[in-house]
Amino acid sequence: MKILLTSSSRHGSTDEVAAVIAQRLREAAVEVDQAHPEDVESVEGYDAFIMGSAVYMTKWTNEAVDFTRRFRTTLAAKPVWAFSVGLSGVADGQAADPLRIGPVLLALEPEDHICFAGRFAPDRLNLRERSIARLGGASEGDYRDWDQVTQWADAIITSLHDTTA
Ligand SMILES: Cc1cc2nc3c(=O)[nH]c(=O)nc-3n(C[C@H](O)[C@H](O)[C@H](O)COP(=O)(O)O)c2cc1C
Repeated sequence: MKILLTSSSRHGSTDEVAAVIAQRLREAAVEVDQAHPEDVESVEGYDAFIMGSAVYMTKWTNEAVDFTRRFRTTLAAKPVWAFSVGLSGVADGQAADPLRIGPVLLALEPEDHICFAGRFAPDRLNLRERSIARLGGASEGDYRDWDQVTQWADAIITSLHDTTA
């Protein structure tokens, strides 16, 4: 069982979420390649996919969306899990509504799509990004819930075992 885990990040927080998922899978003896979607030239030889993207202006990054388009046929034929990292609704304890990511994912019918709360670290952003994030009501902080991330990875592991049993 070999998994490709892609993560698309502008400022690192999504890559770090992906790294925790990859680590968890490896601890369960699942072989994982982690890559940025724009660096992937072939998806041959993978049994399943985990795709993650930061959410900017309510969308996945162009690189993440492009990945789903380039490999649509393979992705539609294999198990796919998806995660988004964003800040919308964090004040209520919930990240953005996954369905807002829209047709990109719905067309692939992922096994699951989860939205993790991300990080707003103004000092890492340029002035424009900072202003947009503040206009969106973001409060400074790292809202990532590592227990939630590992639990989601564990659910994937269970599902993979069921698939191959
Ligand atoms: C300019 C800007 C726009 C953003 N737009 C959204 C958004 O539409 N929805 C959302 O949930 N989070 C939004 N966020 C929050 C980011 O998704 C969050 O900071 C995330 O952790 C960034 O991931 P990264 O560090 O991997 O780039 C925005 C952040 C910035 C700076």
